[in-house]
Order: sequence, then C-alpha cells, then structure tokens
Amino acid sequence: MNQLMSPFKCKGLELRNRVVMPPVCQYSAVDGMPNEWHYVHYTSRAIGGAGLIIVEITSVDPDGRITEQDLGLWSDEHAIAFERIVESCHQYGSKIGIQISHAGRKSEYSKVPVSSMEKPFDSTFNQPKMLTTDEIKQVVEKFGLAAKRAVKAGFDTIELQGAHGYLIHQFRSPYINERADEYGRDRTKFGVEVIEAVKSEMPVDMPLIMRISAKEYVAKGYDVDYIQQICKEYEKAGVDIIHVSSGGEASYEESGMTPRGNPESKQGYQVPFAKAMKQFFNIPIIAVGRLEDAQFANALIENNVADLVAVGRGMLKNPYWPISAAAELEQQIPTSKQYKAAFEFKVSYSPK
Ligand SMILES: Cc1cc2nc3c(=O)[nH]c(=O)nc-3n(C[C@H](O)[C@H](O)[C@H](O)COP(=O)(O)O)c2cc1C
Repeated sequence: MNQLMSPFKCKGLELRNRVVMPPVCQYSAVDGMPNEWHYVHYTSRAIGGAGLIIVEITSVDPDGRITEQDLGLWSDEHAIAFERIVESCHQYGSKIGIQISHAGRKSEYSKVPVSSMEKPFDSTFNQPKMLTTDEIKQVVEKFGLAAKRAVKAGFDTIELQGAHGYLIHQFRSPYINERADEYGRDRTKFGVEVIEAVKSEMPVDMPLIMRISAKEYVAKGYDVDYIQQICKEYEKAGVDIIHVSSGGEASYEESGMTPRGNPESKQGYQVPFAKAMKQFFNIPIIAVGRLEDAQFANALIENNVADLVAVGRGMLKNPYWPISAAAELEQQIPTSKQYKAAFEFKVSYSPK
C-alpha cells in the first residue's frame, strides 16, 4: 500500500514522495523573468521536502500574461534565468516542473486579449479578439517553443494550464466556445494541438501533466462526465498525468466559485472529481484543494483515491509542510540533516 511519503514514478519522473507544490502565482516577475524571489521561494519548498514542485503559471506569450508581473517563457533568456532555480531544487531533492499557459480572455495585462470567442470574461475585462485559424496555429507554436525552452532549462516535467478558464479551457468549454468552425465543432482540437506541439519538444520519457477544471460552476457549465470524455482525447494525444482542479470559467459573482474555492469550501472539496477521474483513467491523478491535513492527505494515497496530493496554500504558509506531515504520520522524513532535529521526535540527539 502506498503512503504520502512513498516514492512515485511515471516514465522518467521519479519523486521521493507524493507531495506536490502546485502552481501558485507570485506576481513578482519583471518582463516575465524569474528573479531572486523565485529562487528563494522554490528552493525553500525543495528544502521543505516536496516531491514535485510545479512553478507557477508561466506565459508562452507576453500578451498571454494575467498580469504584468507573471513569469514568461517566450524567449531563450527566460529559459536561462530558470536554470538556477531548477538546479537548486534538484540539489535539495525535489523534481521541478513548470506550468505553461496562455491566459486568453483572462489577461488583465493585454489591451486586446485573444480568445475562442469575442466574449469578455466579465464587464471589468477588455473585449477579446476571436482567434483566426492562422492565429491559433501561431499560439500552438508558441506553446511548443516554450516547452522546448523548459526542457533546455532542465525541468523534469511540464504542466499545461488547461484549467481555471484560461485559453485551453476557453476552447474546451461549451459555455464559452460557440465557434462555428472546426475549433468549435471539436472543442478538444485546440488542446490536442497544444499537447502534440509540446510533446514533440519533450524527451519521450518526460511525462506531460494537464491541469483541468473538472467542473464549471455556471448554470450551463459542464460536469465531470464531460471532462472524462475530453481527457480521453488529451490522453490519446500524449497527456501522462491529470491534475484535477475546478472552476475559473466565470467571475465569482456569476459562478459563486474561484479556482481557489470559496469561503464555504471545505477540506477536500475537489476530491470527488479526483476520485471520478481516478476510476475512469489508468494514468496518475493529482488531487488538490484544501488537503493540508496530513492524515487526510495520506488517506487519499492509501485508499488509492489519487496518486499525488498537491498542497497549495498549505505550502505557501509553511514550506516545510512535507517534513511536518511526514513527522506527524511517522513516515520517512524527506529532509536535509540540518533540519532533522526539529521534526524527528523519535530520535534523540546527543548534545554535541
Ligand atoms: C495566490 C494563488 C495563486 C495561484 N496561482 C495558480 C497558478 O499559477 N496556476 C494554477 O493552476 N493554479 C493556481 N492557484 C490555484 C492553486 O494551485 C490550487 O489549485 C488552489 O489554491 C487550491 O489548492 P489549496 O487549497 O491547496 O490552496 C493559485 C492559488 C492561489 C491561492
């Protein structure tokens, strides 16, 4: 039986435990460049014992940023700037991936954002331009180029931001995408093309993660049975791991929900979706959403509800969450010797 601290392997990706630091925007970049803040932030999570760290949303295009402070991977200089972070996380035992994305109509930065349709996210957002077929091909190519740079920078895996109402989601959603062309008749087409472009730049043994919103909370939104069918196509195109989140297709006012839940969201509020995906697929599933209780997180692994557990705000608050969880669960502690004394209550140290 696997536990939270059991090792995990998918293709060439081998993790020391099943704790994932999911992407959490720091909104601290200038011109998309990672800096000292990102270096310290991600290194701290590696020292804290994460099995896998997924770097926050990183745009494939300057106009695909949510805000001006988002990270980017639209030039080779960006890739070079990430190398130091990757090396440092490796040094402290974590594997590291990067979430590549295009915000589409959810870009607050772009004067003229792009999307599957001309519908703005809400009245506070700029009116998006509907992408033509040629422009879609260019965006797909940018995803491929960003993936190539991520591989060059040394990342161990890539996650596509296919959740939370960003561009991939904007093509998949019947609530948003009412195009009459082939990208509307087949709402998986854009996502599949992005997957293929990205995979063509990745080594064959490097797994690709797709983050999805399993449920939309608007009245006409889709539910988990729809995403299961969509993910079948994503899997055929090359997705190796599915990261199960929800929401983000519409404003909080309209949907009553955000990609971080809402004030009523309880422990494990997205677990039923992870469970449904786990039952439907044979590929690994990451569960996320208020999972920072160590016993609860461990039970998800022990009961085979998910293969990996992501802890976002819990690890934002406490970079040492994995070590603390291991100590509480009395499982193997993934720590540097310098910090062992603080957590390993079972071992007594000599005063020297
Ligand atoms: C400040 C903040 C920034 C976030 N940024 C991202 C992001 O860059 N990409 C993403 O997919 N999700 C993002 N999320 C969502 C988290 O990855 C996670 O799915 C969500 O917070 C629920 O998990 P938690 O309850 O463990 O925090 C963000 C959440 C927060 C609180």
